[in-house]
Amino acid sequence: MHIKLIPLQTHGDERGALISLEEGKNIPFSIKRVYYLFKTKEGVRRGFHAHKVLKQIVVAVRGSCRFLLDDGCEKVDILLDNPAQGLLIESFIWREMYEFTEDCVLMVLADQIYDESDYIRNYEVFLENIGSAKNTGGADA
Ligand code: TYD
Repeated sequence: MHIKLIPLQTHGDERGALISLEEGKNIPFSIKRVYYLFKTKEGVRRGFHAHKVLKQIVVAVRGSCRFLLDDGCEKVDILLDNPAQGLLIESFIWREMYEFTEDCVLMVLADQIYDESDYIRNYEVFLENIGSAKNTGGADA
């Protein structure tokens, strides 16, 4: 599975650091929604879903957490611990997040507004979707 980690240019000087996120520049889609996860309790594992359409870019603005990404064929585990790096998660990727540090703030940029019907929350259904997309030559999952 190809994991796309987008380097985000840091504008730094003696005062500190600044990163700008701009659609069509360092963000390869139109940003419709931004949300962030914080105060995640120790030992919590969350996510456990894939999306049919939604694409997202995740930035660990502070602290770190791990991502398990699964395209139905391969599982990849990634540590996200750098505010100057954005993890692109395409559609039809199962994700789980875990090992959140106490200070972790995970910011997510999304190319769609929130739509519960876009979620696949059952892993078996996810695998069936991947299988049928392959059979029809649909999604490049
Ligand atoms: P949930 O999908 O369970 O989070 P995750 O899968 O990342 O662990 O979302 C938690 C709650 O927040 C759930 O009730 C749906 C709601 N929610 C929104 O209202 N808008 C959003 O943009 C997101 C991501 C979640």
